[in-house]
Amino acid sequence: MAAATTRRRVTANGELQENGGGAGQRPTNGTRRRPSAAGSGGSTPLWRVAVFASVALNVATLALLLHHYAISHPWRQSPAPAVASPPPDACVLSGKSEARQEEVTKDRASAAMSPSTGKPTVRTDSVINLDHGDPTVFEAFWRETGALAEIVIPGWQTMSYFSDVGNVCWFLEPEFGRQVRRLHRTVRNAAAGDEYHVVVGTGSTQLFMAALYALSPSGSGDPISIVSTAPYYSSYPAVTDFLRSGLFRWAGDANSFKGDEYIELVCSPNNPDGALRDAVLRSEAGKTVHDLAYYWPQYTPITAEAAHDIMLFTVSKSTGHAGTRIGWALVKDREVAKRMTKFVELNTIGVSKDSQMRAAKVLSAVSDGYDMGSGSRHRHRLFDFGRRKMVERWAMLRAAAAASGIFSLPEETSGHCSFSNDTAANNPAFAWLRCDREDVEDCAGFLRGHKILTRSGSQFGADPRYVRVSMLDRDDAYGIFVTRLASLK
Ligand SMILES: Cc1ncc(COP(=O)(O)O)c(C=O)c1O
Repeated sequence: MAAATTRRRVTANGELQENGGGAGQRPTNGTRRRPSAAGSGGSTPLWRVAVFASVALNVATLALLLHHYAISHPWRQSPAPAVASPPPDACVLSGKSEARQEEVTKDRASAAMSPSTGKPTVRTDSVINLDHGDPTVFEAFWRETGALAEIVIPGWQTMSYFSDVGNVCWFLEPEFGRQVRRLHRTVRNAAAGDEYHVVVGTGSTQLFMAALYALSPSGSGDPISIVSTAPYYSSYPAVTDFLRSGLFRWAGDANSFKGDEYIELVCSPNNPDGALRDAVLRSEAGKTVHDLAYYWPQYTPITAEAAHDIMLFTVSKSTGHAGTRIGWALVKDREVAKRMTKFVELNTIGVSKDSQMRAAKVLSAVSDGYDMGSGSRHRHRLFDFGRRKMVERWAMLRAAAAASGIFSLPEETSGHCSFSNDTAANNPAFAWLRCDREDVEDCAGFLRGHKILTRSGSQFGADPRYVRVSMLDRDDAYGIFVTRLASLK
């Protein structure tokens, strides 16, 4: 059968070649080889040399392809990648024997092989889930940084509950605190000098709760009202009320709040609509918490150094390490910082030191990319990568909405970014998408019918004609999403 004898091989330049197969097959262009030196010597027949050369070429080609595949799919790497020597500020393995080293190499390779998102690979007909702001868009960047963002933690380390017993936040790893301050000095998005205490949390979600606890009056009066301008981040009401605290209670849209005592949550740039926000309430007795999770150059121009009483940040959105579960608060008032620390102590007796060390390494890799003075500046620049991605994705989305004709998006705004020293657009981490079709009252339901999962506007205190769409998923899912959106009429 012809099919049985047909051979396919990939040439060194990546082309697929087919031929009739068989050991004695001649080159398809019909040219004859000149006798080689070996052939002329008479000791090795010419066909053997040709077969050897052909096998060698195919093996080399396969190796090249596998290498390429391993680079673009590092979690499938096998055999294990070589262990990079620990950078000077990482914890080092002590007393490594070669066998131990090999074991560690294997362990690390198998960890690298198992992506833990639980998300299946997407195909053009898959359900595309853009409900959560899972920041996997940044994986492509961190795959390239290698040892710059790696740490190794030996078994005996990070065992104690304590990190810095002399500090207000006694479970703050000093290196994490240093890298937080350094990154803010680099980006100049928030004041983080000695006038601020750094409080670390298991994600900024824990610090949001800690802030509510710390700012609530300690007397036995009514719970204090927690407000935020709608559309507000859907977790604010959910997290505020889920334990039915006697200290605080969700009271909805700040714009319709009447009263003097409140805690106003100000999210800027805002989740879900990307708007730049200021507090809307003004009262001596009122307090504010600024959630600046998205105040980073990939999402928005850095227009001023924020210097609010309590500012919340998270590696989930700044670097994309949501799974590390580390957030930090910059807190002006020492007593408030102490109460927030108390909350974390009562809630989880501190914060994973392993995670803090990893976060410190990741933050230092980001700062190093921009640090002109320390001699450690390298070519991996997170905010450049992030901004490029977000600009590209917003352009794709706007084109898809225009092609469809039934969706609208917030207008693009821009401003001077002091970090990049140029004019930059606002490229929010979420799209606040409105379905303009008269007969569609529930945009999330409409999109669900087309296998696109989003979060309904109703969860943000807004009209269900709106949905929030994550802009932070992987390229493949995002590409399928915009193509599908463009086709909806
Ligand atoms: C505005 C805002 N704050 C906080 C968080 C939660 O951050 P973390 O993952 O650090 O708990 C999110 C996550 O989506 C967010 O959008």
